[in-house]
Amino acid sequence: MKYKNSIFFVLVAAALVSAAIDLNNLGNYANQTTPNYITRDNTPPDNEMTDYGATLGRVLFYDKSLSANNTIACASCHKQAFAFGDTVRLSTGLNGGFTGRHAMRLANARFGNEVKFFWDERATSLEDQTTHPIQDFTEMGFSGTGGQPGFDSLVNKLESIGYYDTLFTLAFGSSLINEDRVQRALAQFVRSIQSFDSKFDVGLATTNNLGAPFPNFTPQENQGKNLFVAPPPAGGAGCQGCHAAPEFDIDPNSLNNGVIATAANPAILDLTNTRAPSLRNLFNPAGALNGPLMHNGDFVTIQAVINHYNLIPPNPANTNLDPRLAGPGGNLQLTQNEKNALEAFLRTLTGTDVYTNPKWSDPFNADGTLDLQVCSFATTISGNQSVCDGTVQTYSVAAGPAGATYDWTVTGGTILSSPPFTNSIQVQWNSNQGGTVTVIQINP
Ligand code: HEC
Ligand code: HEC
Repeated sequence: MKYKNSIFFVLVAAALVSAAIDLNNLGNYANQTTPNYITRDNTPPDNEMTDYGATLGRVLFYDKSLSANNTIACASCHKQAFAFGDTVRLSTGLNGGFTGRHAMRLANARFGNEVKFFWDERATSLEDQTTHPIQDFTEMGFSGTGGQPGFDSLVNKLESIGYYDTLFTLAFGSSLINEDRVQRALAQFVRSIQSFDSKFDVGLATTNNLGAPFPNFTPQENQGKNLFVAPPPAGGAGCQGCHAAPEFDIDPNSLNNGVIATAANPAILDLTNTRAPSLRNLFNPAGALNGPLMHNGDFVTIQAVINHYNLIPPNPANTNLDPRLAGPGGNLQLTQNEKNALEAFLRTLTGTDVYTNPKWSDPFNADGTLDLQVCSFATTISGNQSVCDGTVQTYSVAAGPAGATYDWTVTGGTILSSPPFTNSIQVQWNSNQGGTVTVIQINP
């Protein structure tokens, strides 16, 4: 062999539009830090979060394919800009119908003692909850009734979408799609949505003592904190009894809070609403409410909420009112100053990251396609970098003079092209293994 000229090339990175989901650079979901004072956690031992699982959950959460007519995703009603709640009183489903209750904020859904979900706690776990909207006639339309397709049709549909083959394999070890896996992935993504960068967190991290005045609080905010925490006999408003700091989740033993009118028809009473989302992020960082409050969206200001608790209208028909709220006469007797202080405190519970962090954002392009970057496009692939999961990739170098030949060396994958090799080859990567590609050009 006459080597007149031999040049070692490193491969030129393939120009790629910035992929929305880069499997070589996953968002950090599983190893996020939470403050040491956050202890309540409803994660079941058999569905621990992984970055691959939450990434699959993110794609499912934003995918309109989860509705029967491809118009509605989970994110249509649970919007990142509003702490994953909705600003309208009732949200719109796939055929224009309205939801029966107000859409709940999902931020910090993981951090609570109560493991049941929905305002009326009809879902036994977050996993169970996630496929209710998909199978709801009005919301996403895979109900299997009234002429609608069933969940099997959704599975068939997802099987026909290329990116799910890769995403389910990475999350669960095989490309099998079923309801259990859809639930696990969606629940992992929802549990990953956390918010602990509020003014309240700065104060609690500084003092490590909920009862002490927070140095970063105004006197009014500290007064509001005392009112929130102290029970009514001690001159407080007793909110802590059901929405306990620092998670501000719901007490699993709470009964209803006297808000009993059905959204669609106030004359019809609904005594079943005993759960609330975390009271964190009631307000967005700009200070506006993230949507109307309570299961029926009846309250559009925090003052209206406080006025409700201050004097809960007695109603003999409400046989499920929490006895802690059934105080005689005007139960709280808060002054306007105290109401304002309570509001000022509730406003300290808002973070910023959850509203903008790309790892919880919509990964789809405007035209509904998804860019999934499965291979490392580094110049050479080496070491522990994860390469493609069985995918085929083309590598090339600039063509040399006429008659030049190319010696390609690949580890961690198989060259699919047949020798003699040209300046371009196809490589089939082994699953989840490191790999390298090098090439020597031999000029005539
Ligand atoms: C059409 C609007 C709509 C869509 C689509 C939707 N939701 Fe909801 N979501 C709601 C409403 C309304 C509620 C409260 C319903 C109730 O309690 O009866 C809710 C409640 C929830 C809750 C309970 C929160 C809590 O603290 O108890 C979770 C979790 C949730 N949705 C996740 C999802 C997921 C995951 C999807 C997609 C598979 C989804 N939602 C699709 C409107 C929607
Ligand atoms: C006895 C338990 C209990 C106490 C005490 C209590 N709440 Fe609630 N709270 C609930 C329940 C249950 C809900 C959900 C009710 C519904 O929507 O029907 C709720 C809902 C809310 C909501 C609406 C949340 C949302 O996302 O729409 C706010 C705000 C709120 N409470 C604030 C307070 C404040 C402030 C206090 C103290 C003055 C307080 N709560 C005391 C049980 C309680």
